Amino acid sequence: MEQIQQLMKDDIEKLNQIIINDLSSNIMLINQISNYIIVAGGKRIRPLLVLLSGRLAGGVESDLLYKMAAMIEYIHTATLLHDDVVDESGMRRGRKTSNAVFGNAASVLVGDFIYTRAFQLMVEADSLRLLRLMADSTNQISEGEVLQLLNIGRSDLTEDEYYQVIKHKTAVLFEAGARVAAIIANAPKEQEEALADYAVSLGTAFQIVDDILDYFGDSNVLGKNIGDDLEEGKVTLPLIYILKYGTVDDIKIIKEAINNPHQIKNINKIIEIVKQSQAIDYCKNLANQHIKKAINSLSIFPDCDYRQAMIRLAELSLERIN
Ligand code: IPE
Ligand code: IPE
Ligand code: MG
Ligand code: MG
Repeated sequence: MEQIQQLMKDDIEKLNQIIINDLSSNIMLINQISNYIIVAGGKRIRPLLVLLSGRLAGGVESDLLYKMAAMIEYIHTATLLHDDVVDESGMRRGRKTSNAVFGNAASVLVGDFIYTRAFQLMVEADSLRLLRLMADSTNQISEGEVLQLLNIGRSDLTEDEYYQVIKHKTAVLFEAGARVAAIIANAPKEQEEALADYAVSLGTAFQIVDDILDYFGDSNVLGKNIGDDLEEGKVTLPLIYILKYGTVDDIKIIKEAINNPHQIKNINKIIEIVKQSQAIDYCKNLANQHIKKAINSLSIFPDCDYRQAMIRLAELSLERIN
């Protein structure tokens, strides 16, 4: 990551300035909560994807690309504020969630503020195509979150249904980021499609990795609590694996847990079952396939530092589980 950060040092600095400065409001509570979540940082992988895509497609002549990268991070941040209310999560980015500190109502409303600030930023591009893209993408993200809500407690969830959720809730925003960069850079269609393919595959792998880490991760490194998905009855890839290939006893324990979210007695036992199984290898292998696909998508671009950085970014997202 240091290599990428070195290459993108000036770009990231400009981006951070916009991310922090553009959120200010005359209303104190808005500043308080938005600073609380923004200052906590986060990996900023989506705006980095926007900047790298823009650089690779050759267009960083105005400040617009930085604004659009900030816009994508705002949408992501707003969905996190809302998501932590919905998921009743207690930890995010290494600190207590905003809902835990300021309450649900304030988090939802400030989430709306950040979300709408993103729309104020995106009109600055003065591009109907970009607006249409973002309107469609944000709409699909909401669909993903609702679909996921409907799937809570479903032990019969198929892998295809799981993919449908993660495509909508996560990969779509990655894709939008890449396309926004291509639009700003005035990139030819072929380049836009290549960047979009890269981003969808990266976003898909990224969510699979996040779902693995919910069982196998270290909450200090991750900055969020482990076992949250299980706790809320959310069936993700590691569980889908066990429900298909696990022993009869294991399947019984897991089904009972999924059917009774928020009152699981043996959460550590289930995490142990997942850890003892081959689920991790199975999920890693699938994430790896998406990463390979992402990297292949970049083959139409001539080799350069930015292409290398995007390849590295894809590889790094897998290294989180190694
Ligand atoms: C968290 O995203 C939500 C997922 C889609 C997995 P990130 O892991 O990118 O969160 P931050 O921005 O780094 O906190
Ligand atoms: C994050 O989803 C929200 C979106 C991607 C819209 P998750 O609920 O899976 O992510 P974490 O684990 O809370 O970060
Ligand atoms: Mg969540
Ligand atoms: Mg998660």
